[in-house]
Amino acid sequence: MQNTAFATQIRREVQRRRTFAIISHPDAGKTTLTEKLLLFGGAIHLAGSVKAKKASTHATSDWMEIERQRGISVTSSVMNFEYDGFSMNLLDTPGHQDFSEDTYRVLTAVDSALMVIDSVKGVETQTRKLMEVCRMRSTPIITFINKLDREGRTPLELLDDIEQNLGIECAPMSWPIGMGKSFQGVYDIRQGSIRFFRPEGNKSKRPREAVMIQGLDDPALDELIGEAADDLRNEIELLEGAGYPFDKERYLAGLQTPVFFGSAINNFGVRELLDGFAELAPAPKPRKAATREISPLEEQFSGVVFKVQANMDPAHRDRIAFVRICSGRFNRGMKLQNRRLGKSFKAANAIIFMAQDRTGVEEAWPGDVIGLPNHGSIRVGDTLYSDEPLEFPGIPHFAPDFFRRIILKDPFKAKQLEKGLTQLTEEGAIQYFRPLTGRDYILGAIGVLQFEIIAARLAGEYNVDVRYEHSPYYTVRWLNGGNKNALRRLTDLHSRAMVKDADDYLAMLFNSDWHLERTKEDWPDIEFADTRECVTCAH
Ligand code: G4P
Repeated sequence: MQNTAFATQIRREVQRRRTFAIISHPDAGKTTLTEKLLLFGGAIHLAGSVKAKKASTHATSDWMEIERQRGISVTSSVMNFEYDGFSMNLLDTPGHQDFSEDTYRVLTAVDSALMVIDSVKGVETQTRKLMEVCRMRSTPIITFINKLDREGRTPLELLDDIEQNLGIECAPMSWPIGMGKSFQGVYDIRQGSIRFFRPEGNKSKRPREAVMIQGLDDPALDELIGEAADDLRNEIELLEGAGYPFDKERYLAGLQTPVFFGSAINNFGVRELLDGFAELAPAPKPRKAATREISPLEEQFSGVVFKVQANMDPAHRDRIAFVRICSGRFNRGMKLQNRRLGKSFKAANAIIFMAQDRTGVEEAWPGDVIGLPNHGSIRVGDTLYSDEPLEFPGIPHFAPDFFRRIILKDPFKAKQLEKGLTQLTEEGAIQYFRPLTGRDYILGAIGVLQFEIIAARLAGEYNVDVRYEHSPYYTVRWLNGGNKNALRRLTDLHSRAMVKDADDYLAMLFNSDWHLERTKEDWPDIEFADTRECVTCAH
């Protein structure tokens, strides 16, 4: 039986946890928003700290440089900060050139997401991809439309863009008054108040606090915002007729996104976003394991590894496994079992990540992320637990977007190449595919920078020099279902495009969208899956 003091404590800790990621296309303002959130949370005190890291991480794609920055990227992968009694865990989703499978995996470890959209550009490609991953798990999403200080698209166009392109209902929580040069502020739909925009550093006479109005018919509105008052009335009326009112159930089911408008760089609308987020976003929920559903409030510890990152010091080859806690309390030095290895170990030197630091962790709760240093024994997708053997569904593999044929410079190093690729694949850095006919390796990555990293790591850690050759492929699909005959016929017909992945699953490579669609039509009994569950969850 659980003791009641523990039950009360864990309930309180779980209720105040918010574990989330920010998803956006590069340049929409994710770094700027992260920085403002951390400033509000008191986790950093200097504007520019996150930005500085970003600049140094992305200034070059040179591997050594990346390696040097790794200490920083490890700590900035998870940022914990307190806000208004809530304990926020912001998980970084690598974007830009280092957009990789890691980016997707991080999304399997969060309870909700914040989506940043650039008001000038609207929905862009990376947002669309990230959103697809969120949809797989019905992750609740709150949207922040950024850069209202610039001449962007109209708010109605932007909402329509999100609804059409991302297939999610929009429920505006605030509404912009003007835009760009004529941007005056936002109308808070729920509170019925106006909040005036004051660009950072500008000593405008307009009030800092929100001004309440008595409904949109209030003549005070005309005095406050002049001619824009009628536009606002019209737009809100339109919204009431055609838009979606906020529905918490639909938000939690991932069907509707509450939308906030603002300007991150001017710190406008960020506090409202953070307040709305703390109020609406879900605390850690129960998770399905192979045998039963695990409540976060259970006494026994359980967690899942969603990311493994090589540590700063390449000489030691140590790695940090990032574990998302799913239930129970983590205590320093506790004994944990690894389901896959059937082994236990003492988690003596676990670390927890603060915004700019990492420190030893004494205790941690569901929703928190802890880092476990290890020498390669812990893998992405591993389930860790304290008592009852548990297994959470693994982290799926996602179809890569870029392919290269790997060529060994010294053909006698085939064994080392195989070892290196096997280990790097296990770590989740890359995927490889081997044609059924032939001995090639075709590497697949979600972001192109991964190829450079893999070549540098093969040279540095496995003493294997490789180069890449162009590969004509555009995507891959794992083949499921269909009767044996159909699969055999498909394989015979397209033998050159048939491959097996590192875990021996059959897949097919395609060189165009047209080819993929055509094949799907021709073989209706076969499923062409764009994700593949990991091996441990297949049985
Ligand atoms: P990212 O992490 O999503 O890639 O975006 P980041 O925050 O780096 O922002 C991308 C650019 O957009 C930056 O400009 C940033 O200053 C700008 N930005 C962010 N929020 C706003 C906003 O509310 N309004 C306007 N007008 N711009 C915004 P940059 O020129 O690339 O960098 P910097 O020289 O300003 O640092």
